[in-house]
Amino acid sequence: MNKPVDLPQRDFNDEDSNTSSNPSFESVLNARLSRRNLLRGSVGTAATALLGGLSLAACGGDDDTPAATAPAEALLGFNAVAKSLEDKFTVPTGYTASVLLAVGDPLAAGVAAYKNDGTDTGYDRRSGDNHDGMEYFGLSAAGTPDPTNNDRALLGINHEYVNLPFLHANGTTANPRPAAEADIEVDCHGVSIVEIAKTAGKFGVVQSSAFNRRITAATEIELSGPVRGHALAVTKFSTTGTRTRGTVNNCGTGKTPWGTLLTGEENWVGYYFRAAGDPALRGAKGNTALVRYGSNATATAAAASRYGWETAGAADKYARWNTSVTGVSIDGSDDYRHEVNTQGYVTEIDPYNASSVVKKRTALGRMAHESAAFSKPVVGKPLAVYMGDDARNEYIYKFVSTQTWVAADASAADRVATGDKYLDAGKLYVAKFNADGTGQWIELSLTNPTVAGYANYAFADAGDVAMHPRIAGDAVGATKMDRPEWCGVHPNTGEVYFTLTNNSNRRLGTVTGSQLNPDAANPRVYTDIRGAATAQSGNPNGHIIRVKEAAGEPGATAFSWDIFLFGAETGAPSGIINLSGLSADQDFSSPDGLVFTPSTGLCWVQTDDGAYTDVSNCMMLAAVPGTVGDGGALTLDYGANGTVTTRMGKKPTAATLKRFLVGPAFQEITGLCESPDGKVLFVNVQHPGEEDSNFASVADPSKFRSHWPGNAGYGAGGATARPRAATVMVVKDNGGRVGS
Ligand code: FEO
Ligand code: CA
Ligand code: CA
Ligand code: CA
Repeated sequence: MNKPVDLPQRDFNDEDSNTSSNPSFESVLNARLSRRNLLRGSVGTAATALLGGLSLAACGGDDDTPAATAPAEALLGFNAVAKSLEDKFTVPTGYTASVLLAVGDPLAAGVAAYKNDGTDTGYDRRSGDNHDGMEYFGLSAAGTPDPTNNDRALLGINHEYVNLPFLHANGTTANPRPAAEADIEVDCHGVSIVEIAKTAGKFGVVQSSAFNRRITAATEIELSGPVRGHALAVTKFSTTGTRTRGTVNNCGTGKTPWGTLLTGEENWVGYYFRAAGDPALRGAKGNTALVRYGSNATATAAAASRYGWETAGAADKYARWNTSVTGVSIDGSDDYRHEVNTQGYVTEIDPYNASSVVKKRTALGRMAHESAAFSKPVVGKPLAVYMGDDARNEYIYKFVSTQTWVAADASAADRVATGDKYLDAGKLYVAKFNADGTGQWIELSLTNPTVAGYANYAFADAGDVAMHPRIAGDAVGATKMDRPEWCGVHPNTGEVYFTLTNNSNRRLGTVTGSQLNPDAANPRVYTDIRGAATAQSGNPNGHIIRVKEAAGEPGATAFSWDIFLFGAETGAPSGIINLSGLSADQDFSSPDGLVFTPSTGLCWVQTDDGAYTDVSNCMMLAAVPGTVGDGGALTLDYGANGTVTTRMGKKPTAATLKRFLVGPAFQEITGLCESPDGKVLFVNVQHPGEEDSNFASVADPSKFRSHWPGNAGYGAGGATARPRAATVMVVKDNGGRVGS
C-alpha cells in the first residue's frame, strides 16, 4: 500500500518516526548552501554537462554494456510487457495467467461461494483480503512435507490489510464502528494456509482440505524469545506477558530451512488508539519508546486508530485496540497499555499442522517488518535472517542464530521446536553503510557498550532491546535508509538484495526535522512530476541495494555493497535520476517485493508505486542478477550542493532486466513463489481499485476504480464487480519455466 501523496488520508505505509540525531553519514554535500529542490530539467542539464558522457542515450543503449552471459540470455526470452493503465492483468505473449484464490473464496467444507456484494460473512473460513507475501510448501500424496512436489502443496499467504469499503454491503460505517463490520475486518487480516492440487495439470484450491487454516487478527499467539514474559508485554489478556492475540498488517514472508512460514508484521502501530493525555500517564522512557514507533498521542490529540475497532463495543476483543492506560494497576495487567508491544514481530507458522501453536519470534526484533530472508544454510554455520524496517529513515537488520545448522533439521518432525532452536536465541545486528562500498553489522545488545550506555534510553534488559531495536539502532549510528522493504538472498551467490522503495525525506542543502541529505547508500535527491502537476521530492522512485558478506559468512560483521538498480522513468535525465539507464521495457518506480526463484535464479522485482502511476499500473520485472562490485564508483554532481559518490553495479541490458507483467488498476503486485520445477509462478494482486478518501458510495459501480478480477471472468459480478485482491498463477504455454 503506497497511497499517492495527494490523498488526504494518512499513509499507513509511510511512517516517519526516526528523528534521532544520527547524521546522514559521510555526506559530502555542502551544507552552507541553502536548501532547494531541483526540478528534473535543471538537474539533468547541469548534471549531464558536469558528468560528460553520461547522456541518456549512452545510458539507455545496450552498446556501452558488455553482453550478458549465455545462461542469462537463455532466460528473459519473452517480449517485455508494455506499461499500461488498463484494468487487466497482462503477461507476455506465450504466457497465461489465471486467478487461483481471491478474497472471500471459501476455505472450508460447506462454506458458500463468495457473492462479492458485501453480504458475505465468516471470513475465518474464507480467504482474507489484500494478499501479500506468499510461500510454497510441497505436500506428498500421503500428506507429509515434500518440498519437491510440483502437483500438491500448501500456500501460505499474508493478508496485509482490508480494501474498504468493498467488504460491506453499504460501504464502511464511520466510528463508532458496527461490531459486525469490525469482526469482518479483523478476520480478513492475518494469514491463510491453503491446500492446492493439480487437476488435469492445473492447480486449484482444495476447499475442504484439513490443512486449510486461517490465522487472523484475533488468533491466540505465543510470544517466544526475549520478549516472552517481559514486564512490557503484560496485558489484561496475558498477565504473564507470554501470549497475545492476532498478527496484523502481514507484509512480506520468509520460508525457514525446516519448512515453516515466517510472516512479517508491518504497519501495526496504526491499528491502536492512544488517547489524548495518555503521555501524562506514562514515564518519560515509555513515551520515548511509543513515539519512536509512531504512537504519537499528545495532551490534546489522540492517536487515531486505523479502523476504529476499539469503538465497536465494550467487549474485550474491541477494548484491546485501545493501547492507552485505562486501568489502575501498576503493571498493566488490567488494561491494554502494553498491547502495542505484542505486535511488530516475525511470526512463525507451521503450515503442515493446522492446530500447531503460532509463535512470535521476538529475538528478530520489533519493527515494521517486511520479508525475512535466510542465508543459504551451511552445515556447522549459523543461520542469518535478513530484514528491512519499512518506514522513512529506518534501518536494515540481520539476525544470526546461536545454533549452527544441522542438515537433519531440514526434515525435523517437530517444526515448532526447530523454530525454538534457531530463532529464539541469537544476535541482532543493524547495518551501517560506508561511503567506500564497505559496511558493518553492529550488534544490538547490552554487551555493546554504545547500546548499554545510550543516554536517550536506558535499556533494561535483552527483552527491552528486542522490543526497541530502532532505539538501539539510533544509539549506534545505523544508516538511515530510503524505506527498506523486502529482501532476498541470491540462491547461488548468497548475496542479499534489499529494496528501498522511496523516501520523501531526502533533501539537498540545509535539512530540518527528519529530512536527510543524500549519502552514498541513498544517493539521489530529485523531483518527480506525477500527472499534470503533482511534484514529489526526495527519492520518489527508490532503488535496490545489495550486500555481500565478508568471506561469505552469515555471521560476518563486515560486508561490501553496491546499488543493483535505480528506479526511474526511462525519459528521466541520466545524471541524477535514470542512473541505471532503464529503457522503456525496464523502467519502474518504487520497488517493494523482491524474491529470487531457486529454479532459475531470477530476481523478481515488484512495485508499489505512487510516482509513475500516471503512466503505468504497478508491475513486476525479471532480472538476471550480477554480483556486488561488477560496476564501480559513480559520482552524482549536485552543482552548488556538492557531490555524492556511490557504488553502482553493472547497468542492466535488455538481456538482464525486462518487465514481465503489469497488474490491473490501482493495485500493487506483491508476493511470489514458484512450484519447484519453476513452471508455475504464483503472484499476488493487492488492493485493486483501492479507493481514496473521497469515495462516497459502493452503490455506483461506475465509480469503482477497478472491477478486476470479475471483469476477467473470475467469480461473481462480471464487468461491474467489486474489485478483489487475488493470487494469480502464471504458466508458460509451451510448458517451460516461467521467465525463460
Ligand atoms: Fe507491506 Fe512496506 O510493504
Ligand atoms: Ca507492499
Ligand atoms: Ca513522473
Ligand atoms: Ca510499499
